[in-house]
Amino acid sequence: LPGTLVELLESRLRDIPDFPSPGVVFKDVTPLLADGEAFGAVVADMADRRRGTIDLVVGIEARGFIFGAALAQQLGIGFVPVRKAGKLPGRTRGVSYDLEYGSATIEIHEDSFIGGERVLVVDDVLATGGTAEAACRLLEDGGAEVVAFEAPIELEFLHGRDRLQGRDVHTTLVVR
Ligand code: PRP
Repeated sequence: LPGTLVELLESRLRDIPDFPSPGVVFKDVTPLLADGEAFGAVVADMADRRRGTIDLVVGIEARGFIFGAALAQQLGIGFVPVRKAGKLPGRTRGVSYDLEYGSATIEIHEDSFIGGERVLVVDDVLATGGTAEAACRLLEDGGAEVVAFEAPIELEFLHGRDRLQGRDVHTTLVVR
């Protein structure tokens, strides 16, 4: 593959204006996923950084499942989903967090960890950081150790990193 990983990502993302609401430019990763080489390069990069340092990958609904599951398989470790409220079938624990308007709740199966697991949290985009921060809280309350957070894309102008201070946060394409 020619060029840097950042250039590759940039070339495989599609901007969708006014989605999901007016004024928002949605970063669509489906062209990246459809390109096996490019998708593979993004996952391999995460795997190289984290190999041997984590016991489980936690993916955040929905696109965190795609990157997270691929990464877990690459590392030969397990995958645990964090989902929107009401989606997981077993007994869950949840955490609510504020959105610009209203609030959201994410959940995890309460028996996901025995305690002390080193986990990497994966999503596609770090935006305001509300989701990532809530996920970290949920995991730590459940007995896991959050080693790091990874997302291929960061919307820097929304300052999500500020909500993850003190954590190891890695993103590849930083949108300013
Ligand atoms: C997007 C994205 C992250 C989250 C980031 O998910 O995939 O999960 O928002 O935003 P934040 O940093 O401001 O919390 P979305 O709300 O589109 O839900 P979906 O993945 O279920 O479509």
